[in-house]
Amino acid sequence: MQSAYVQLIYGSGLMSKDKQNGYEEAGGRFFCFPKGSKRTVPLLPPVIKVENLTHVYAPGTPFQVTSLDNVSLEIAKGEFLAVVGATGSGKSTLVQHFNGLLKPTRGKVTVCGRDVSDKQAGRTLWRKVGLVFQRPEQQFFEETVFDDVAFGPRNMGLSRDEVKERVEDALRLAGLDPVQVGQLSPYRLSGGMKRRAAIAGVLALRPEVLALDEPTAGLDPQGKRQLLDRLENVRREWGVTIIFITHSMEEVGLLAERVAVLNRGRLAMIGAPREIFSRAEELRGMGLDVPVPTAIMDRLRAAGNPVRTGILSNTEAEEEIAKLLSGAAST
Ligand SMILES: Nc1ncnc2c1ncn2[C@@H]1O[C@H](COP(=O)(O)OP(=O)(O)O)[C@@H](O)[C@H]1O
Ligand SMILES: [Mg+2]
Repeated sequence: MQSAYVQLIYGSGLMSKDKQNGYEEAGGRFFCFPKGSKRTVPLLPPVIKVENLTHVYAPGTPFQVTSLDNVSLEIAKGEFLAVVGATGSGKSTLVQHFNGLLKPTRGKVTVCGRDVSDKQAGRTLWRKVGLVFQRPEQQFFEETVFDDVAFGPRNMGLSRDEVKERVEDALRLAGLDPVQVGQLSPYRLSGGMKRRAAIAGVLALRPEVLALDEPTAGLDPQGKRQLLDRLENVRREWGVTIIFITHSMEEVGLLAERVAVLNRGRLAMIGAPREIFSRAEELRGMGLDVPVPTAIMDRLRAAGNPVRTGILSNTEAEEEIAKLLSGAAST
């Protein structure tokens, strides 16, 4: 009966439908959603499973802060999940559990079936889950871009040739020319290039999961767009699972398959962007907003115009407005 639980996930050309077994394949990855349900239920074991996670900083001291409170969620292989929430809602704390940097105070986090609190599993977690910190460009420590990106692969005990191949691939994927920038000091790069070099350092680990903490913060609009395109590329080429924290609802609308909303350390909502953005009032109550085109179309509809709701992008909004105008012209 598994086929009843399957429906198309991607509208992209990547998808090929295998009617024989009822699975949909996208770039070698399988996703299964119960038919007619908006909740995602992966049939494969999730890459990351968070069960009743509570994290308390400085427990037992006057500075004690409960930064995550009983959070549970699952992330499927190959998924593109956005994590949003007001400042201090626990986003960074959550993703730092995925590579074992933080351990649960209560509850459990499993990555690829291994408990992150388990000492042995913890030792290899940094290879499986590449974490790009907020403002990663402040953390270069080698003299050249090449050496900085090579740091991880060298620690994996790879041969010189393998290290070189990984570094060059990672730089290219991040949008940098290995020949041009490899021997430069990372500090001589422009802001956007520094960010890309830092991301290359994590890509060189060839992780199964890529978690990025506000990767587009501080970049100009073109830099943001390029970085997001590259992330989508990496996901397509490697089937890597991507988790990204962002303050930009526009980015969520454009890229994410699902979005998790944190509010004061609790998981307030999780679901497809269209579903989440239809709850604009609740989001505003948490100090969040919906993308501008979504808000405009909701208002047009509230004023009695026959436009679709759940609009996510400028392009979709333009189409709806064009339809509305042509309808008005023909009456
Ligand atoms: N190292 C820390 N020590 C004590 N409290 C912290 C630490 N890091 C974060 N916090 C607190 O935990 C809460 C969640 O922080 P954080 O996960 O950084 O949120 P976000 O990334 O959503 O802004 C905040 O109240 C913050 O002040
Ligand atoms: Mg943060």
